Amino acid sequence: TWTMLNIVEEQVEAIRAQVGDGRAICALSGGVDSAVAAAIVQRAIGDRLTCVYVDHGMMREGETEQVRHDFEEVFDVLDVVDAADQFLGALEGVRDPEEKRKVIGREFIRTFEAAQVRVFGEVVDEGAGDTAFLVQGTLYPDVVESGGGAGTSNIKSHHNVGGLPDDLTFELIEPLRTLFKDEVRAVGEQLGLPSSMVWRQPFPGPGLGIRIIGEVTRHRLDVLRRADAIAREELTRAGLDRDIWQMPVVLLADVRSVGVQGDGRTYGHPVVLRPVTSEDAMTADWARLPYDLMERISTRITNEVADVNRVTVDITSKPPGTIEWE
Ligand code: XMP
Repeated sequence: TWTMLNIVEEQVEAIRAQVGDGRAICALSGGVDSAVAAAIVQRAIGDRLTCVYVDHGMMREGETEQVRHDFEEVFDVLDVVDAADQFLGALEGVRDPEEKRKVIGREFIRTFEAAQVRVFGEVVDEGAGDTAFLVQGTLYPDVVESGGGAGTSNIKSHHNVGGLPDDLTFELIEPLRTLFKDEVRAVGEQLGLPSSMVWRQPFPGPGLGIRIIGEVTRHRLDVLRRADAIAREELTRAGLDRDIWQMPVVLLADVRSVGVQGDGRTYGHPVVLRPVTSEDAMTADWARLPYDLMERISTRITNEVADVNRVTVDITSKPPGTIEWE
């Protein structure tokens, strides 16, 4: 529409003025927000933009390969960083949700600082057109929930807002900071991004790390990754991807319950399905999934994922719940 084109033109002008003849890196997650932000900045400064995708070890099954494949065609320079050791090391012993978010936000910035130096060299003289610019796909709701809006309190620190470290040296470029997701999708379509990118369900920057209730370990990530892959596969097979806003799968890693599987007793963990419908993620309703779909997901997860012996469904709206559990 006319308004969406206007937003793009306005942002392109503003970014040109901000960056001058400088260069920027973009934090690309694979999701629609950062993809649209990157596309706008690319319009403004062309190949002086380099996109960086960080695999922090908490991505979903097959995600890194898929992002590499889908994005390499759209953004010519895509720098893929394997930072799993770094992130998971920093998260050792961390159980508090806000602390997790802060650690993850900080490690993201450290990774982008290293990428900046690798791609463009050291920033020698800040203020002389040699500033380090970082493009983020921050949306209006991210700012509000992190306590950045007028009269709002901090609900959770989104990794790219409230989770940023205090000693941030990047100058941020956030062309979507005033927009909601449906508007971002409209801009994405205007810019001609592939519809698989534009209509992808939201996935939080901190990834599966905030869907493991308890400490994040490699083993727990493997368990959750498998359960999540099954749930997503069945949702897609049921043709419900566009009806459901998103469906986190949450691993209650510190909870165990007694089950009976195969020949005997098990003492495993529950997972929670969290299907929601929403307009903009500010509020959400729990989604009434078809019973046969829930049954297939439950049967497959308990059969195929060792360590999980119970599947539950979260029937809380937002408010009073939030979409993610942490
Ligand atoms: P909540 O859990 O606050 O989530 O109801 C609202 C929407 O935001 C996503 N979310 C995040 N996205 N970084 C992100 O990029 C974050 O730190 C973050 N936390 C939550 C969540 O998946 C939902 O779509």
